[in-house]
Parts: sequence; structure tokens; C-alpha cells
Amino acid sequence: MAKDSAALPPYFNIDPDAALEELDSPTDTAGFAAIAEACARGRADLASRGMDETGRKHLRLFSTWEITRYLIPVASAHFRRVLKQNPDLPQGRSETEGGAKWFALDEVLRLRAFFAAQGSKAKNYLPYRPEGLPAKLVAVANFKGGVGKTSTAAHLAMSAALDGYKVLVIDLDSQGSMTSIFGGIVEDEWQTAFPLLARHYGTHLRADNQRRLDRGEAPLPLDDTLSAAMEMTAQDVIQSTHWPNIDLIGAQLNLYWAEFQIPVWRMQARGWKLWDALTDRLEADGVLDQYDLVFIDTPPALGYLTINGLAAADILLVPFGASFLEFDSTGRFFDMLHSTFASIEEGENIAARALGRPGLAFEWDAVRAVVTRYDGAQQGELSALIQAYLGRTLSPHRQDFTALIGQAGEQVAGIYEADYRDFNRETYARGRETFDETYAAFKRLLIGVWRREELAARAEETPAQKPGAKPGATKSDSARAPLSPA
Ligand SMILES: Nc1ncnc2c1ncn2[C@@H]1O[C@H](COP(=O)(O)OP(=O)(O)OP(=O)(O)O)[C@@H](O)[C@H]1O
Ligand SMILES: [Mg+2]
Repeated sequence: MAKDSAALPPYFNIDPDAALEELDSPTDTAGFAAIAEACARGRADLASRGMDETGRKHLRLFSTWEITRYLIPVASAHFRRVLKQNPDLPQGRSETEGGAKWFALDEVLRLRAFFAAQGSKAKNYLPYRPEGLPAKLVAVANFKGGVGKTSTAAHLAMSAALDGYKVLVIDLDSQGSMTSIFGGIVEDEWQTAFPLLARHYGTHLRADNQRRLDRGEAPLPLDDTLSAAMEMTAQDVIQSTHWPNIDLIGAQLNLYWAEFQIPVWRMQARGWKLWDALTDRLEADGVLDQYDLVFIDTPPALGYLTINGLAAADILLVPFGASFLEFDSTGRFFDMLHSTFASIEEGENIAARALGRPGLAFEWDAVRAVVTRYDGAQQGELSALIQAYLGRTLSPHRQDFTALIGQAGEQVAGIYEADYRDFNRETYARGRETFDETYAAFKRLLIGVWRREELAARAEETPAQKPGAKPGATKSDSARAPLSPA
């Protein structure tokens, strides 16, 4: 039908009686419960599609093509030969007689370890992590919502896991998106990061009480919540996921309670360093030695949980879209970061100066803004301008908008969980490429940061070199294999 140029726009001539007929009755408070319930049923339906009968997610298998193309840098003929010569290694399974062989991720990790031990020393089978240095914590944050924080954090966690790192993901967002992606099951706040923060406060309060007693004052009681938290460690809230080398501290709506509880604690004990809570507890419970990387997803707000995540982070990534509004809002976010952390430092340093103690100064190994959902046809000019203003703070890779994300529903969280056979190979390769590049840019940053620390540690050792230390040790001499999967 030819377009009727005289047709009126759709908002004219709406008949009031017809409009009334379409209308449902007014919504009361209970109406929200009904809507939430409908959403929950739909969500359960979607979620169940990638899960087994126990409600856990499954990770797909990886083909020889994908392994030799993306995961272990060997020629596929060589790969097959090595498998044949070593019948004890995982041999994979094929769907048809003589068809392609498929492997579970933990099998891929075993194969990689084998190639690393047996294969050419010149090849990078295992990713770099300097010996003796703690895991790096990476926070992904922006107070603007929907900019790609969770997608970026989840994809980086998965890329790092595929690359052979052992990863912990911490969800600090009570929306729990990251938790859904990793199939986490969280009943209440006791299975989130909350008890770790509570224990940190409880420990402070106990020390404070000792001082109160010494002064002859009455101690403040530890309530039931705090007493329960004093018994808990990070290991109690860490759960495994369908990825063999990714673990999770999940989140759920109740975690939001922390935003109300933390200021109350802070009022009770002014000296409590709430921003150190997460870092201190992860360190005390040995988490930084058990993992290579910790990714922290934060809510779209600069609340207490986000502050804790940011203060814990060594590397801060700030995703945003290359549009005026998102750029503008991201600038304000950096401004808020400045005032928030400056005011914490100032508050602390008044006391420190009075006592002649060294002051508090926050420091991040690296901070990068990351363009997400990039559309080269529309956003090239604006991105170039942003690049000019942000310089090195802007990550060199722009993460393309890709239809592979969020399209396949709950059971498949983005590129790395998708089976490439479900897509046109070129669409798959392009989508994957942009997230591989996002990871590559991050990994360069990470390796640079670790290297800087490694050299600094070594400089501290010289000239009084430790017995047995090789002078002029090379990178590969000093780098140790990342932790093997659990
Ligand atoms: N590179 C991409 N290409 C296409 N869509 C994307 C991309 N990255 C993210 N998205 C989509 O954008 C939406 C928002 O992403 P995401 O949930 O990661 O943002 P967020 O910043 O974590 O949001 P919130 O502030 O609510 O936590 C999601 O629907 C996601 O699927
Ligand atoms: Mg999110």
C-alpha cells in the first residue's frame, strides 16, 4: 500500500471512549506484587532453559576447532597427534561417528596444562602471573545505569577463565544480574558479601569495646547479626559456578539492606574504616592467594557497597556508551569519585596529622574508561572527540554493539557461552572478536600492572640479593603458572 502522505500522526484523533475501553483498573500497592510475581514466573521459565533438574547451569562443550583457534595456540593436526599419543589425556566426544571432538572446559584446562608442561617453551600456553604477588581486584563501575558494567565484567571474567586464570566474581549489585549470569543461588543476605562487611565492623567494635573497658566505660553490645557474622569467612559465601575456574559471591535483593546498615554502624563507631572492609576480609581469608583475578560488579549508584568495591580495586574500569548523555554522566561520576575519596582521605588525615601518623591516600594501579555498545557508523566522531579529551584514560578498544549479547536469553550469557553453530560464522567471529579485543586491552593493562609490581619487588630485594636468586632472571623464569582450577 502506498504511504498516505495526508495521514495524520498517530497521536491525533484518539477517541476518549475507545481509550477508556482499553484501560484496566487503577493499580494499588498490591498491583506491584502481582506484576513482580508475573515477572518472577517468566524469569523462572527463562532461567530454567539452561539449567539441569537441580537448577544449576551447564557450560557448553568446546570443539577442537575452537580450542586450537582460540584457547590453546597449536595447530589442530598437532593437537590431534598429541591426544593420540597420550591416551590418558581427555579425548573428547563426538556427536557423530568420526565427527568433530568436543571437550568440557575442565578438560581444556587439563590439556592446556599438559601443553604448557610438554610443549614449546616459546609459546604462551599459560597466562602470566608473577610469583608471590596477590590476585588483582578489578571493579567495574559507573553510576549511570545500563552502560554495560555487568556485561563487561562477565565477559572479562569468562575470557580470563578461558585464558586459564582462576577467577572470583563478586556481585555487589542487589539486582543480582551477575549472579544470574553465573547461575548463583542466593537465599538471603547471608550468602552475599554482607557478612564479610559485618564481620569487619564487628571486629572493629570488639577492639573499640576493649578500649571502652580500659577507660572504665560500658562496652557496646554486638547484636545477633554481628555475632553471627563474626563466625563467617569468605569461604562460607563463595559458591562454585558452571565454569570450573570461576567462583562467585552472589547478590540478591536483601544485599541492598547494607546501604542502610552501614551508615548506622558508621554512626556508632566513627573510627570504623568501612572502605577497607571488603579488602581486609578478602585478604584475611586468603582469597587473594586462592585466585588470580577478582572481578567486582557494582550497582548503578555510588553507595556504600560501590565505595567498598572501588576501594578494594586495583584496576577500575568505567564503561559508558559513546553518546553525549553517557559521556556527560560519566564525567560527573569521576567528579563524584574525586569528592567522595577526597573527603574520606581528608577526614582520616586530620586525625593522622594530629597523631603524627602517615595519612591515608587511595591509589589505583590503573583506571580506564571503556566505550561499550559502540556503533562505528554513528559514533565515530563523538568517540574521537572523547578520545582526544580522555587520552590514556580511555581504553584503546571500543567494544562494538553486537547482537550476540542479550539476544539468546537467560541460558546463554553472551559470546563465550554461545555455541558458534547457532550463529552465522561471520556474525559469531565479529562478535567474539570485539570481546576478545576488550579482554586483550584489559590483559595488557593487567600484565603491565603485575610487571611493575614484580620489578618493584625485585628492586627491593637487590642489591642484597636473596640466596639462590638468579641474576637477570627473565620474565618467563619468574612468572609462575596461574592457579590450576579447583
Ligand atoms: N557490546 C554490547 N552489544 C550489545 N548490547 C550490549 C553490549 N553490552 C551490553 N549490552 C546490553 O546493554 C544492556 C545493559 O547492559 P548491562 O546490564 O551490562 O549494563 P549495566 O551497566 O550493568 O546495567 P545496570 O546499571 O542496570 O547494572 C543489556 O541489555 C546488555 O545485554
Ligand atoms: Mg549491572
